[in-house]
Amino acid sequence: MSTRTILITGGAGFIGSHVVRLFVNKYPGYTIVNLDKLTYAGNLANLIDIEHAPNYRFVKGDICDSGFLKNLFSEFPFDGIIHLAAESHVDRSISNPMEFIMTNVLGTVHLLNEARHAWKADFSGKRFYHISTDEVYGSLGTEGYFTEESRYDPHSPYSASKASSDHLVRAYHDTYGLPTLISNCSNNYGSYHFPEKLIPLAINNIRTNKPVPVYGNGENIRDWLFVEDHARAIDLLYHKGKNGETYNIGGHNEWKNIDLIRLLCKIMDRKLGRPDGTSAALITFVKDRAGHDLRYAIDSGKLQKELGWQPSLQFEEGLEKTVDWYLGHQDWVDGVTSGEYQYYYQQQYEQR
Ligand code: NAD
Ligand code: TYD
Repeated sequence: MSTRTILITGGAGFIGSHVVRLFVNKYPGYTIVNLDKLTYAGNLANLIDIEHAPNYRFVKGDICDSGFLKNLFSEFPFDGIIHLAAESHVDRSISNPMEFIMTNVLGTVHLLNEARHAWKADFSGKRFYHISTDEVYGSLGTEGYFTEESRYDPHSPYSASKASSDHLVRAYHDTYGLPTLISNCSNNYGSYHFPEKLIPLAINNIRTNKPVPVYGNGENIRDWLFVEDHARAIDLLYHKGKNGETYNIGGHNEWKNIDLIRLLCKIMDRKLGRPDGTSAALITFVKDRAGHDLRYAIDSGKLQKELGWQPSLQFEEGLEKTVDWYLGHQDWVDGVTSGEYQYYYQQQYEQR
């Protein structure tokens, strides 16, 4: 059984919690250290099933705190870092860009510096894996796909902060030889997704008979990937990807927002035993998001060819599983939608 010590940042968030769970369960010989600040988006309830696993440690801390990182790196002999900690919601980046710069840009640099210093004696067998987004490539028209060669053209403070962090990760590879790897993934969906994002917000609003806000005319297109498929890709890339390389990850699963919401409404009517059309009546078109990217679509051919990765689920199946999870975990939803969420919701939607 191989042994490694891996730092996963942002492991109490949506995607991070799936990555932590996968690694803790699949690699009993590894020590998995989850570093998370527990912002509004981080929640230890996401990891209740593995919190007592002998190969798992949780550490509360901020990636922007270099003194704290120094101590952490002297406490644990990390072989690898999988960096997911970030501010992740476009709408919040529009109202408060500075937090995105602090965590996504400066926090990433603090982490890069710490890895570089801790590993300077020997980079062999080490890996700094940075998790990024397809939003760095900007917006597509009706044709074409983002490839690893697509030009960076971010439009929101969120995507611009992620683009900056990607550039810095590449700079540390090219300048210092740090063994880095980057993946850029399309929109994820699944369990433990914070209900500020489209799918879980719509599920929650439909269940509680609240308007389902669709920005603009609902024609914007996203490429949706089941979160556990993303976690599997991260596992593969962490172990088998090439240093200095970038890999795109996506579902080949494009949906116009309005079509996705209509499908979700149908599923919800069936699950809740409501007459067909009840949920769709909640759809409400609201003021568009500023700088709203029209279309994202990923060509993940490189990952598929080099490492044999494929998405495992059809969207309808994944969406149905996701709805079942939300309807079966009302206590989790209630926990994350109390307090700060109410204020956020009011600011974001009730004045739109
Ligand atoms: P999330 O918002 O659900 O989770 C982010 C986590 O980071 C939270 O647990 C939060 O507490 C933690 N965090 C925030 N600031 C921190 C700090 N300063 N120090 C330590 N921890 C901090 O985000 P997510 O959707 O799980 O996204 C994870 C990563 O994947 C992000 O880097 C995001 O850019 C990227 N990504 C997300 C998607 C998506 O569809 N959600 C798609 C592609 C890439
Ligand atoms: P979101 O889940 O915020 O992800 P991202 O902006 O990172 O793609 O939004 C997905 C799409 O849904 C995006 O085009 C914006 C739109 N949207 C709505 O129409 N209504 C909403 O309430 C939200 C949160 C998003």
